[in-house]
Formats: sequence, C-alpha cells, structure tokens
Amino acid sequence: MKKCFIISNWKLNGDLVFLKKNINIIKKEFNFSLKFCDLAIAPPYVYLHTMYNYIKNTSIHLAAQNVDIHTQGAFTGEISVSMLKDVGVKYVIIGHSERKLFHNENYDNISTKFVLIKNFNLIPILCIGETEEEKKQNKTEKICVNQINYILKTQGVEILNNAIIAYEPIWAIGSGKVADANEVQKVHSFIRKYIASINQKVATNIILQYGGSVNNNNINNFLDKKDINGFLIGKASLTTENFISLVKKAEKKMSLLNRF
Ligand code: 13P
Repeated sequence: MKKCFIISNWKLNGDLVFLKKNINIIKKEFNFSLKFCDLAIAPPYVYLHTMYNYIKNTSIHLAAQNVDIHTQGAFTGEISVSMLKDVGVKYVIIGHSERKLFHNENYDNISTKFVLIKNFNLIPILCIGETEEEKKQNKTEKICVNQINYILKTQGVEILNNAIIAYEPIWAIGSGKVADANEVQKVHSFIRKYIASINQKVATNIILQYGGSVNNNNINNFLDKKDINGFLIGKASLTTENFISLVKKAEKKMSLLNRF
C-alpha cells in the first residue's frame, strides 16, 4: 500500500496554548482514522514531553527538530538522543538547512547524528537540498548525492534502512516559492535511482519526503508523484485548520491512488 508520511515541523514557533488546541483538534480529526497517511509532529524541544503526554496511545508520532552529537557530558544547552528517546520521540530531523545556515552545522556533525540516532533505534530524517544559486547552475543532483554520500561513505548504504530523506530545496523553504511538482519528482526519482545503484532493496523502502512551502493549496500537485512519499511542512502546519485540510486532501488522494 502506498502511504504518505506528513510531518509538521513547528521550528521556533508555538506555545503551550497552541500545543493544546492544535493537538486536541488533530486527535479529534485523525486519531486512528487515517488509513493512507501517517502523521508526526516536531515541536520545539521544551514541548516534546508535554506533546508526548497528549499523543501517547494515539496513532500520531513525535519528532524532534535536532539532537546533539554527544551522548552526555558538559555540553551546556544540548539534548542527547537518549533524552529524546526518554520522552517518546520516534523521529529526529537532522541537517535542516536552517541549522546549517544559523548554527554552523556541518556534514561531519550530521553524519555523527545520523549514526547515533540509528544506534538508539530512532528514525533519522536527513534533510538535503540545493541553494537557489546551485539550482541555477544545474547542480541539484550533484548536491543531493554529495549530501547523501557524507552518510554513506563511513556507514555503507544499509544505514539508510529505516531512515527518511527529506528533499528540501533551500530556496523553497519559507519563501512561498514552491518547487514544481514534476521537478521534485525528477529529483526524488534521481535520488532513489542513485541509492538503487548501490542497493535496490534500500532504495525501494526508503521514504522520500519533500519540504518547502507546501500548503493546503498546492499539496494536490505532489500527491500522485511516484517517488514523493510524504512531506515536511513548516509554516502551513502552524494554522491548524489549514493543516487539517491539507491532511484530508492527502488522505483522499492516497485512498484513490491505492484503488488502482
Ligand atoms: P515551510 O513549509 O515553512 O517552507 O518549511 C519547510 C521546512 O523547512 C520543513 O522542515
């Protein structure tokens, strides 16, 4: 069965009032009622535990927006993967372009985080994608391969079993400039073929999400694309009503696609 995995990434937004209202509506609408979509929410660290208490025993999953490269010690301000696991996190976003841009995150760190997350049996969501300049220079495929290879070169392709890659072209994030769905499909197909050239089974199973200005009005363009298995959604997930409507569209389209 073809499924769609949608993650709401709050980034640095929200508060306890929003959390409570948002999750109660989402639970009311979707708890155990979605057949073709899976949902996860990635609130800021400080709300993870509260969110967990709201969603435990539901079909909604908890995701974190980052993790540290260390497992414990004198690293003021950081959060370890075991702490995330402790509060019920299942998915961890790593390598988001905003972390690269504003927090000097580099690929050695991202690679270390990827391995740590796997070692703790959580699921990494590796963000990759090109800048606008790189796109103009037709470097999208090369950039994606380089970013994936950073993980593969030390670990081998099996590390991508039970992992997610989120293609998030940097120019499309938060800009309102949503990428053309056919172009995204091409990039996703390229990524899957690249992984398949090393290991077909890993390539078949890997979830490839798209992220970048996806909203209630444009999600339909992406849903029937073969290699787009889900979405990482920022801004549009902060308005609960829009998010609900977006998920409903995904569920409807996926149910149709699964009939054939
Ligand atoms: P927007 O949906 O706000 O463009 O953000 C996408 C994103 O960065 C999700 O991780």
